[in-house]
Amino acid sequence: MKANPRILLIIGGGIAAYKSCELVRLIRKNGGHVTCVLTEGGSHFVTAMTLAALSENPVHTTLWDLKNEVEMGHIQLSRQADLVVVCPATADLMAKMAAGIADSLATTLLLATDKPVLAAPAMNVRMWQHAATQRNVATLRASGVTVLDPDEGAMACGEFGPGRLPEPEAIWSAIKAALGDARPAPGPLTGRHALVTAGPTHEPIDPVRYIANRSSGKQGFAIAGALAALGARVTLVAGPVNLPTPAAVTRIDVETAREMAAAVEAALPADVAVMVAAVADWRVADAAGQKLKKDGSGQVPPLLLTENPDILATLCRVANRPPLVVGFAAETEKVIEHAQAKLARKGADWIVANDVSGDVMGGALNAVHIVTAAGVDSLPEMPKDAVATALAQRIADALAR
Ligand code: CTP
Repeated sequence: MKANPRILLIIGGGIAAYKSCELVRLIRKNGGHVTCVLTEGGSHFVTAMTLAALSENPVHTTLWDLKNEVEMGHIQLSRQADLVVVCPATADLMAKMAAGIADSLATTLLLATDKPVLAAPAMNVRMWQHAATQRNVATLRASGVTVLDPDEGAMACGEFGPGRLPEPEAIWSAIKAALGDARPAPGPLTGRHALVTAGPTHEPIDPVRYIANRSSGKQGFAIAGALAALGARVTLVAGPVNLPTPAAVTRIDVETAREMAAAVEAALPADVAVMVAAVADWRVADAAGQKLKKDGSGQVPPLLLTENPDILATLCRVANRPPLVVGFAAETEKVIEHAQAKLARKGADWIVANDVSGDVMGGALNAVHIVTAAGVDSLPEMPKDAVATALAQRIADALAR
């Protein structure tokens, strides 16, 4: 993390707003700079005076401040920080963020910012659990916002459950992690944005069952880490896997192919995309809203499948297609032949073909062939980390040309 990070702190209107004062103190104590934006709701719980004194900075409250629009426009304010933190993130504020509403200084900044955003939610337990809030949180996470999970416990309103603001120390830890994520060490890919998909997708049959595959996500995670190690800003769109996030990588978790497609689209533009995910080719056409039950007749439920979007092929045809698109091809026979066909069919620049007839899926070793229009570059069998490093290096070379 950079020594003196600049935090733009947006204070929403909830009782937990008083804890944002403690957060300002913590950030200051650790050498960070804080600029506070106090929402109208927030101003009913803490004063601009308190925040100005603690942050040692002017506090911004309104979009309609002519003097400030001249000296410090709201767009500029949203861009000068290293990280935007929303604390407390109320249900209302998150709903507006998810919908892209810009009706106040805070929401306008959130829509205009090009910086990572971290939200620390705090609200009544029922409001947190409400389907609308959960939908908004999922939307925000899919578009790259880090939404912390609220703490569980007794609430100011007398109820009990999840909804308490995480402790300021925990928010500070998350800020440090987010800043680490946003700032990889310099290298040949510094200034480049790399988009990586990894892992399987899960396609629901009913609320408790799903269709999956054996992808572990290891190769994709290793590639995300290797690209970050070369200095790239990496967005890793991950299906359901049990793997730690590689250092300095921004991770977006998804479940289904359609969620993955949306997260990929939202992450553009990118300089390079590496699509390693084992996306399910099919999903259940009409997933049941309730658990399917045996009716005693011995009849099995028919599962009608429908095709998922091809994320790689779509990406190769969008207007803001990354200049370098790399696909993977898991094959069990005629590996190179099939990869060459896939290269043409999908419109990718490179296809990294691997033979999955052995125990590659979930295993530690991989032998790949990089298939391009120019020819085939076959790498010997090596650990997935070494494959990742070799591929990242080739990507850096290609982008430097
Ligand atoms: N892929 C994708 N979206 C899909 C299916 C595949 O983005 N719906 C991507 C994978 O991430 C991979 C490449 O396409 O980079 C090839 O995946 P693979 O499963 O080998 O190809 P398929 O198109 O499924 O071809 P087939 O099943 O016929 O081998």
